[in-house]
Amino acid sequence: MNVVAGSLRRGAPARLLPADTATQRRGYSSAYYDMACRLIELDSLIDRLDLEKIFERNAPLHVDLGCGDGSFLCTLAQGTQDKNFLGIERLLNRVRTSARKAAKLDNVRLLRMESSYAVRYLLPAESVERFYLLFPDPWPKRRHHRRRIVTPDFLSSIHAALQKGGSIYIATDDVDYFGIIKEVTESDRGFAIGEGDVDLPLSRFGLIFRQKGASIHWLELRKISPVK
Ligand SMILES: C[S@@+](CC[C@H](N)C(=O)[O-])C[C@H]1O[C@@H](n2cnc3c(N)ncnc32)[C@H](O)[C@@H]1O
Repeated sequence: MNVVAGSLRRGAPARLLPADTATQRRGYSSAYYDMACRLIELDSLIDRLDLEKIFERNAPLHVDLGCGDGSFLCTLAQGTQDKNFLGIERLLNRVRTSARKAAKLDNVRLLRMESSYAVRYLLPAESVERFYLLFPDPWPKRRHHRRRIVTPDFLSSIHAALQKGGSIYIATDDVDYFGIIKEVTESDRGFAIGEGDVDLPLSRFGLIFRQKGASIHWLELRKISPVK
């Protein structure tokens, strides 16, 4: 497998490094190399991901959308070795932090990408057992509402990427956004709605909100076939 080690450095040219000890001879520390191995570098923005090649095995896939610093993703992956975990995050520094945490976890990969695009165009159909969307940016100002990620189009891409019976877990502390998310999901007949009361590790933002004493609102959407 090849990795592009340069992608962890801002502005550095992407350089293909073969996955062997020659890398270390070229001056990359093994810790840096382990981090770089967790990153997915795309050859194309229109081809679907080859998940078996990326993870070097076939296993159920869980995807954390906007994975932030990767603490939730990596804690979950460490305790669930029989599943593959993909973190998608658009901010470089957070991808770097996540890659550092994932360096020793063979079942984690990271993609620096806009989540909606990745779900719609890069994930193969029916490839995901579970999505997590934990504390998506609420964009509270009215003029910013159009930046919110949960829309009918987004849910339709999620539906296409989920396996039969797969689900998405959504958490937010923002009661207004939660109301909107419920409205959007209730009008989509492709999902059954639950409360997502599973025992999950705390994400970084989950921890921050818990420390502040904020109420966290959860939703689980399970893929069903719409009644015709
Ligand atoms: C409030 S933070 C929550 C991070 C993490 N899920 C947690 O619970 O700790 C939202 C994260 O989503 C990322 N994000 C927001 N919109 C995104 C998008 N469209 N695509 C990818 N990442 C996004 C942000 O950069 C940020 O890291």
